[in-house]
Amino acid sequence: MSRHILITAALPYANGPIHIGHLVEYLQADIWARYQKSCGHECRYMCADDAHGTPIMLRAQAEGLQPEVMAKRYHAEHQRDFDGFDVGFDNYYTTDSPENRALTEQFFERISARGHIEKREIRQAYSEALGMFLPDRYIRGTCPRCGAKDQYGDSCEVCGAVYTPADIIRPRCAIDDSPVTFRASEHYFFKLSAYTDMLREWVSREHLHPHVVAKLQEWFDAGLRDWDISRDAPYVGFTIPGETDKYFYVWWDAPIGYIASTQEWCNRNGRDLASYWIDAGAELYHFLGKDILYFHTLFWPAMLAGAGFRMPKRVFVHGFLTVDGQKMSKSRGTFVNAATYLKHLDPQYLRYYYACKLGPGIDDVDLSLADFVARVNADLVGNFANLPSRSAGLLARRLENRLGQMDADGAALVARLEAAAGDIGAAYEACEYADAMRTVAAQADVLNRYMEQEKPWETVKTDSRRARVALTVVLNGIRLLAAYLGPVLPRYAEKVGRLLGCPTPDFTNLGRRIQDQAVNEYERIAERVDPEAIDAMIAQTRAEQAAHQQKA
Ligand code: MSP
Ligand code: ZN
Repeated sequence: MSRHILITAALPYANGPIHIGHLVEYLQADIWARYQKSCGHECRYMCADDAHGTPIMLRAQAEGLQPEVMAKRYHAEHQRDFDGFDVGFDNYYTTDSPENRALTEQFFERISARGHIEKREIRQAYSEALGMFLPDRYIRGTCPRCGAKDQYGDSCEVCGAVYTPADIIRPRCAIDDSPVTFRASEHYFFKLSAYTDMLREWVSREHLHPHVVAKLQEWFDAGLRDWDISRDAPYVGFTIPGETDKYFYVWWDAPIGYIASTQEWCNRNGRDLASYWIDAGAELYHFLGKDILYFHTLFWPAMLAGAGFRMPKRVFVHGFLTVDGQKMSKSRGTFVNAATYLKHLDPQYLRYYYACKLGPGIDDVDLSLADFVARVNADLVGNFANLPSRSAGLLARRLENRLGQMDADGAALVARLEAAAGDIGAAYEACEYADAMRTVAAQADVLNRYMEQEKPWETVKTDSRRARVALTVVLNGIRLLAAYLGPVLPRYAEKVGRLLGCPTPDFTNLGRRIQDQAVNEYERIAERVDPEAIDAMIAQTRAEQAAHQQKA
């Protein structure tokens, strides 16, 4: 039965480049989307730039650009970088769009009509010098509990105290160090507490990883607090209907951007938005990092329910990227931008490496540079790419590039390889990519052992029929490997398809066998990683950082 699937990855902010940390997510979701498509399901992978909020506003000011102009520039860069990594979004839109404005107002009106939005006066930190209200993160001061200096406006990194900017001692503006005063202003609040029962029911192992469920239990136990969804001018975002200088908080319209991106795609392709976002049979999946869990597992499902949209079937939450066991660091040169990586290394390496490290849990993902080189060279190059290179090479050199018929033993071996599809598919579906890669590697080992046993490079000298049979078996096995690896390594699957003159191998055509026909020219799949290329990439990242600091 064909499923109707919509997949989203969190929307990157339009104020900086995509880096290898972001790519954990965009590749994790891309592999899942490609797997579902490979099974023949109706599946769409949606994303967009997140073009609103205070950091965007401040960054644009610093660069002396209109926010829309800066957002357009990053949008183009992001799209280029995602293409470079074969991230196959069906649509890459922006939250600063007419579709998103209309939907954002619709959510607001529907939820207001239910009585779940309330206006309340609050006192908020204000910088007279900048003429703006300050988000908590833009206030620094002395911790009221332990006296530590230079702490954020919402929490202390030294003693862990959580407070409001009004509690902090000698608050200063983090942007220009000006003194902070407090002003009253009317804000809109979303009554999250009205959704407590519905959320408690939705938060289950069916929809979330057990570790995420446990985290949410803590939040339920503390009680769900109403959420401030408005911000005062100056701000970059959508104005609230009926107001002139009040805006929706970026986190109100950002997730609605998932729907707006789908809407814009539907408009262009003559599809119906309801079939993805409303119908009971549709399946909605979100991929995101653990830092934005609260927004996606509490606020967002409540917003969807309040506005009459369907609930997510599953929210996949990943951990953060570390490099050699440490946080990505600009000074160490491990804060590598996607574009910098692509100047030095093949994108297939990172796709494969992340797949080997990823599961459905929220543990951090470590990119160990030495392990990266070893694994890519051993498995991707030494195993997966080497098999077609050796077998197709021999067929071309010695056997007129023509396949024969498999014998009974060979056909049985290929059938056993095909039987692994169930386990591999289940692993992809469960986001257990590391398991999927282990199982595929085991299948490649089977083919390698068969090669070693048949030694077609020797038999070809005396018994060309036998050599041709063996190579036919191996190449049919490789066709299955290509189908299995396709979600992670789409270029591998495409090249094997072109080599064998058949449609790109995928999970819908596993039963096909290629026999008694000519094959095409072999295109190289991947070169060995040169450890010097990694050093060069790290050095360039350091240099970019130094240049950036000089500019600032
Ligand atoms: N704009 C918001 C998301 C809005 S979704 C309606 C945002 N943007 S972000 O650019 O900061 O992050 C985008 C995604 O990348 C998030 O899911 C975040 O967790 C992920 N990552 C950003 N840095 C990361 C690492 N270093 N490691 C792994 N994932 C990381 O949040
Ligand atoms: Zn403290």
